[in-house]
Amino acid sequence: MTTACAPGKVILFGEHAVVYGRPAIAVPVTQVQARAVVEDAPVGQGIVIHAADLHLQWRVGAASPADDTLQPMEATVRHTLERLSVQASLDIKLTVSSTVPIARGLGSGAAVSAAIVRALAAHFGQTITPQEVSDLVYQSERIYHGTPSGIDNTVVAFEQPIYFVKGHAVQVLSVGRPLWLVIGDTGIASPTRDVVADVRQSWQREPRRYETLFDRIAAVVARAREAVAFGDAALLGHLMDENQELLEAIGVSSPELERLVSAARQAGAMGAKLCGAGRGGNMIALVAPEETARVAAALREAGAVNTIISEVVQTRPA
Ligand code: MEV
Repeated sequence: MTTACAPGKVILFGEHAVVYGRPAIAVPVTQVQARAVVEDAPVGQGIVIHAADLHLQWRVGAASPADDTLQPMEATVRHTLERLSVQASLDIKLTVSSTVPIARGLGSGAAVSAAIVRALAAHFGQTITPQEVSDLVYQSERIYHGTPSGIDNTVVAFEQPIYFVKGHAVQVLSVGRPLWLVIGDTGIASPTRDVVADVRQSWQREPRRYETLFDRIAAVVARAREAVAFGDAALLGHLMDENQELLEAIGVSSPELERLVSAARQAGAMGAKLCGAGRGGNMIALVAPEETARVAAALREAGAVNTIISEVVQTRPA
C-alpha cells in the first residue's frame, strides 16, 4: 500500500491575467491536502478508482461517472501509467480523498491529480521530479479545464511559493519574511472553467480594455514580487487591494467576495482580494501574525463558511 499527498494553493497576485501571458504569484496551502492510496487488488479486477469523499467507485476503461469533476482522475491515471511505462492492464485500487474544497479557488483538481501521480510513481518504485508531476497534472487539467495557464499544477507540484509565467521555467519566489494569510470561503462553488471562459469572451469583445487591465495586473505582480522578497507586508497589503480592484474591473468579483474582503480590511487586514477564478470560492487577507484570529472571526461573522490561517514561507532556496 502506498500513500501520497499534495497541498492546495492560493494565488496571491495575478490570476486571470496569467492565462494571457502575464506573471502571477502563487503559494501552497498545506492546511488542506489531497491524498491518494494505491493498493494491489485481486487479479482480473483492473484499475479501480474509489473517490472516498463522494462514495463513488468505478473501473478505469468502463463507463466513467457522469460527474465530469471525476474524469480528470481517470485521465491522470492513464497518463501517469504511460509515463511510468507500467502496463495499463494491472490490478490496483486507487483511493482518493481530499480536504481541498472543490471549485473554491484552492486548486482541488490539481491537488488530487498530483497526489495520484505521486502515489502511482511511489507504488511502482519510480522517482518522479516535481516538473514531471506538474506536466502530468497539466495534461489532465487541459482536457477538462479549457485553457489553464499551468500555475495550479506548478505550485501544487513544487510545493513552494512561485513566480510563474506561462510557458517559462518556474521560479521559486524569494520570501524575505514569513507572511500570514487568512483565507475565507464564500461557500459558493465557482468552476474555474466557466469563469475563465467568460473572461475570454469579454476579452474577445473588448480586447484593448482587457489587455490594459492585464498589463496593470502585471505591474502589480512585478511590485509584489519585490515586496515579498523584501518582506514588506504593508506594501503587499496595498498591492492586494489594487489587484482586487482590477479583478473587479475584469468582472470576476461578486458581492459575497467583496463583503468578506471589506470585513477583513475592517478587522485590521493589511489588504485583501479574491483568489483563483473568482465569482465565488475563496478570498485571502494579508494579516499581521497577532491579528489572524481576529480577522478569521470577522470573516466568519461576515458569512465565511470556513477560514484557514496559513503562513507563507520559503522552504528551499530560490
Ligand atoms: C485559477 O486558479 C487561476 C486562473 O488564473 C486560471 C488559470 O491560471 O488557469 C483563473
